[in-house]
Amino acid sequence: KRPAGAPDRSLARTVTKVGIVGAGLMAGQLALLVVQRLQVPVVLTDVDEARLAQGVGYVHAELEKLAGKGRLSPDRLRRLSRLVTGSVDKAGFADADLVIEAVFEEMAVKQQVFAEVEAVVGAECVLATNTSSLSVTEMGSRLQHPERVVGLHFFNPVAVMPLLEVIPGEHTDEATLATAFAVGASLRKTCIRAADRPSFVVNRLLGRFMGEAARIVDEGTPIEVVDRAFAGLAPMPPFVLIGLVGPAIALHNGETLVRAFPDRFWASPTLKRVVESGRRGFYDLSSGRPVLDPEVLELV
Ligand code: 3HC
Repeated sequence: KRPAGAPDRSLARTVTKVGIVGAGLMAGQLALLVVQRLQVPVVLTDVDEARLAQGVGYVHAELEKLAGKGRLSPDRLRRLSRLVTGSVDKAGFADADLVIEAVFEEMAVKQQVFAEVEAVVGAECVLATNTSSLSVTEMGSRLQHPERVVGLHFFNPVAVMPLLEVIPGEHTDEATLATAFAVGASLRKTCIRAADRPSFVVNRLLGRFMGEAARIVDEGTPIEVVDRAFAGLAPMPPFVLIGLVGPAIALHNGETLVRAFPDRFWASPTLKRVVESGRRGFYDLSSGRPVLDPEVLELV
């Protein structure tokens, strides 16, 4: 059954090679999913050579782990591992049909990345953004072909979260949108068409949930009380989830929402202090089980 708002599947272009810009956590997870499900060459790029090597290494190591669990045959492991490579410059994208950017959440950075990608790819290559909250239309606005831009918003952990938000920008054409939905289906995600509004659908919902949780803490209730209050209500309590997505991303999402809908959202000073401190989250996971990080508690 065609997902609501998806164009005719026959308009979709075949994807035989995928480029991923960025080699951070999200980019690595995306590369892993793409190579497993589409089984096409995947090229990662990053301006930072060390991060690039780490990103490619992460994908190879995860494939090894799957093979170790008997989920990939040795033959398939070799084949898939060979398909994932890294390249410091974007020339490796020349014959890609789809490039997904997963770089820092800043409009100017993402626009610059898309301009550089457009300079090397073919006319029909789809440019997708994995932005959490920024405007897809604005991201494509400086391109020669803004009709090839679309949002593909994945969720963490990418391997297991079933949803994919597909976000057409104002100029996105039907072939681009059809390709986006077809790729989502091949990745075995449930695709929804989301409007190009700040934070789309999921992060707008999550923004209320996380924002209110942070507000209760800002008002003086301990984190563990708020997190325990979620027992059985959600798969992850709010402050554990902030650690999973990263406090900086949670804060960025919150700030985007406060700007767009100031009557409904909350920019938490506690979350801001945690981000400014450079901590990865509210919990210390080094012992293997989550323990509230005493240094973060000092900041709260
Ligand atoms: N990578 C790959 N697989 C993973 C994984 C990861 N990081 N984390 C868990 N899994 C797999 C496990 O291997 C296991 O698979 P199996 O059943 O085949 O063995 C399965 O997921 C279940 O894992 P666990 O039993 O260890 O743990 P849980 O049952 O607690 O599930 C969870 C873990 C799926 C992460 C669950 O806690 C959850 O759904 N949490 C909520 C996550 C969420 O809300 N994400 C959205 C964040 S918002 C976002 O990303 C948007 C961005 O823009 C900010």
